[in-house]
Amino acid sequence: MLKIGLTGGIGSGKSTVTQIFSELKAPIIDADIIAHELVGPGKPALKAIVDHFGQQILTNQNALNRKKLKEIIFSNPEQKKQLEQILHPLVFAEMESQIKQLSGPYCILSIPLLLETQMEDFVDRILVIDCPVEFQLERVKNRDQLSEDRIKAIIASQATKEQRLQAAEDVIDNSTDAQALAEQVKKLHNLYLSLA
Ligand SMILES: Nc1ncnc2c1ncn2[C@@H]1O[C@H](COP(=O)(O)OP(=O)(O)OP(=O)(O)O)[C@@H](O)[C@H]1O
Ligand SMILES: [Mg+2]
Repeated sequence: MLKIGLTGGIGSGKSTVTQIFSELKAPIIDADIIAHELVGPGKPALKAIVDHFGQQILTNQNALNRKKLKEIIFSNPEQKKQLEQILHPLVFAEMESQIKQLSGPYCILSIPLLLETQMEDFVDRILVIDCPVEFQLERVKNRDQLSEDRIKAIIASQATKEQRLQAAEDVIDNSTDAQALAEQVKKLHNLYLSLA
């Protein structure tokens, strides 16, 4: 099965594009969803996080206090690194095991931090979702309750547009509308079927 690594910066349109691929019946595995599930109540990854950050990282209901964790790692790069060292191997291991259950000519692996984790070899082909940085900023501002400075800091912490474009076998330009996006996805879907 051909593994397509779909990646792109914050707000570039990864989830939007992934949704279009799923409408074309391509199997999807989403690292963001896995990461979210891995730290659910009672999950081993949550225990590892509590072992590292202490009980303060839990809500009164013993769930992960995501907001608090975000605050801690945002202001502390060393803590961010440690959290990533706990989570990233678990995310990739879970992806690996989910891939084994799939069948079909190709699958889409949505991995926002594919380059940042240096896991390019985990996939057969890299598809980058690209749009101007100003659009990322604007779209995330409309979607989330985040300040412009915070969004800029997140963008600065990620791989650059140039690094991504250099790593990409395929690029989707998400600077216009939904129709243009659907057309590009359809073309790539046909390409992936022909390569598989
Ligand atoms: N071509 C477009 N025109 C206008 N809005 C768009 C377009 N593509 C995506 N959006 C909107 O921009 C926001 C970001 O898109 P999306 O959530 O797909 O990005 P993402 O890469 O998955 O972001 P994240 O990195 O935060 O997961 C969403 O609210 C989405 O609906
Ligand atoms: Mg997304």
